[in-house]
Amino acid sequence: MIDRLWSKFVKPSSDKASTLTVENVPQHVAIIMDGNGRWAKSRGLPRIAGHHTGMKAVKQITMAADRLGVKYLTLYAFSTENWKRPKAEVDFLMKLPQEFLAIELEELIANNVQVRMMGYREALPGHTVEALEEAMLRTANNTGLILNFALNYGSRKEMTDAVKLIAEAVRDGKLSPDQIDESTMSEHLFTSGIPDPDLLIRTSGELRLSNFMLWQLAYSEMWFTDVYWPDFSESHFHEAIAEYQRRARRYGGL
Ligand code: IPE
Ligand code: IPE
Ligand code: MG
Repeated sequence: MIDRLWSKFVKPSSDKASTLTVENVPQHVAIIMDGNGRWAKSRGLPRIAGHHTGMKAVKQITMAADRLGVKYLTLYAFSTENWKRPKAEVDFLMKLPQEFLAIELEELIANNVQVRMMGYREALPGHTVEALEEAMLRTANNTGLILNFALNYGSRKEMTDAVKLIAEAVRDGKLSPDQIDESTMSEHLFTSGIPDPDLLIRTSGELRLSNFMLWQLAYSEMWFTDVYWPDFSESHFHEAIAEYQRRARRYGGL
């Protein structure tokens, strides 16, 4: 029975797929897509070639997540700290959402995927925001996988802004301090209404969070791989899910 179910969801391309169980697929997977620059360097190519090839992995992993029945896929595409990079690289990165959506939006729509973004839009170039807004508008009623791009996202700023909004509500007499609880914080984050990630994946061998979803990852399982993002495939993704399924999530209990 399980085999039959899987044949619907998982294409046989991954031998890892056969070890997965249908019942325990993470609802929300978050990915720090790292290593594009090193991928390019190792091939004697400019860093931007790594970013460009990384788009193929975005497509592949989106489809793989959709086939598995993952509900939310959050992809860290640009951090509030990435503005420190050379302008030419930043400009290139800011053109990728447009290019990605120009190629993939129709197929995302055909697959019932809903596109969202989280991050500070004001600082992004107009063309980047317009492309994303068009995609969000056109997929707003889709009921399948939610593909959430973290773009110009930073967790400390997200939490600081939440505290400011909560402080203003207290100042205006709309909220008393003893009414503030964990859900008050959660409701003031970009991820309001979205369950916390069950699984965090980071590629490229770095073992840190780099200001990504610090609040939301409190009890997420973490999985790291040395594979650079442009090389990250459906088979690697299944490997991460299989490992997730072997873990015991205790949340402080026994
Ligand atoms: C991830 O790859 C993409 C972004 C951070 C935008 P990097 O560009 O960080 O690649 P490395 O870490 O330098 O190899
Ligand atoms: C994190 O990667 C940000 C994204 C993947 C978008 P970085 O490459 O910016 O992280 P650090 O600088 O190595 O911590
Ligand atoms: Mg990096």
